[in-house]
Amino acid sequence: MNEKLISGFSKWSKQEKIDWLNARFGSETSENSTSDFSSFWLENESVQETIDGFSENTISNFILPYGIAPNFLINGIPYAVPMVIEESSVVAAASSAAKFWLSRGGFKTRVLSTVKIGQIHFIWQGDSALLHQLFPAIKNKLLTESKHLGANMIKRGGGVTAIELLDFNHLEKGLYQIRIKFETVNSMGANFINTHLESFSKSLRSFFDSSDSLSPVNQDIDVIMAILSNYTPECLVTASVSCPVSQLQGVYKEMKASDFAKKFRQAVRIAEIDIYRATTHNKGIFNGIDAVVIATGNDFRAVEAAGHAYASRDGVYKSLSHCHIENDIFTFSLTIPLAIGTIGGLTHLHPLAKKSLAILGEPDARLLMQIIAAVGLAQNFAAIKSLITSGIQDGHMRMHLMNILAHLEADENEKKMALTHFTNIPVSFSSVREFIDSIRSNK
Ligand code: MEV
Repeated sequence: MNEKLISGFSKWSKQEKIDWLNARFGSETSENSTSDFSSFWLENESVQETIDGFSENTISNFILPYGIAPNFLINGIPYAVPMVIEESSVVAAASSAAKFWLSRGGFKTRVLSTVKIGQIHFIWQGDSALLHQLFPAIKNKLLTESKHLGANMIKRGGGVTAIELLDFNHLEKGLYQIRIKFETVNSMGANFINTHLESFSKSLRSFFDSSDSLSPVNQDIDVIMAILSNYTPECLVTASVSCPVSQLQGVYKEMKASDFAKKFRQAVRIAEIDIYRATTHNKGIFNGIDAVVIATGNDFRAVEAAGHAYASRDGVYKSLSHCHIENDIFTFSLTIPLAIGTIGGLTHLHPLAKKSLAILGEPDARLLMQIIAAVGLAQNFAAIKSLITSGIQDGHMRMHLMNILAHLEADENEKKMALTHFTNIPVSFSSVREFIDSIRSNK
């Protein structure tokens, strides 16, 4: 066997895995790669064990910055929002937008719906009318035989809320779907939904197996798969900010409030028209959304997938946010699907996710949806504000400069001098190193 292939890897200890990895794939120039991995292990072994348990074949922890965006006023309540993100300027931008809207009424948010969807896809070549006729009995069997699964959820106000049969024969011969709506209250609900779907699939098969009065063709069902859908257009939250146009005075240097409002609205309009801009525009929204989703131990891939699919709901991918000016009132809003939870999953297992939820005041899922939407809107506001005024490189370059200075171990005085020097000069690693070298050689 090729020495770079392995079997039984998962059974080895962490150290054995690292040694094997370094021997087979390590870089010759990296002298200390064992400690590269082990230096990120946590001292607290029990927490480390918990983190290791989230995944498989774990050999280390991948660290990301955990920041706080303060001054978010949401429906009149102030929040300091935890954000986990590696991109410079995102937390600064969210904080600055939060502060800007703090004195203009803050963010207004509202949950529009909380429906989650599961699907069973199956092939049935029998008579379609017969299937529709049998469906009430099938539905009854599915619900009866899964009753034991939902006791806790039902106590909390959740459970299965609807079951319908969809016919896809016109697209694929014999293809049907049972679509189930769920309410999962404060949990994201993936396990609850998938457990139900697998139980439903079993009941569905057994319905046909035991229907002796049906002809063989009408008895033959092939369940292809059963899984939740990450498309959650009925698990929606909306956030908005609004103020008289005149209150936008001072948002950027001497720019007139009405010019800012008009240019801002045009920038959003472009993202409603052009997919290339819409993608970048929405990416900016997800800079904020993902950061809070990660900080609270939620599934950012699910949230992204739903958000982008929702942005294409009319058949064309568009901006998730919208801006209008009416009677001299500037309004900027975002409506987005957010299937997240505040119990279950990693939310209370990951120590920092747990801490994030504590910092947010132990929100329920509905409140967390609103906080996340407000941050997405703030992030979008900050990005567009920069794009239509100074451009984004201004802020980015300052952060980039600070990162380079940290790498060069610049002291406070060197940092101060560099910040002044690079005010109007392009920042690059070599130009900053040259500048710091010149200060040091003149000492
Ligand atoms: C960068 O991560 C995000 C932005 O490009 C978003 C936007 O263009 O709206 C600044």
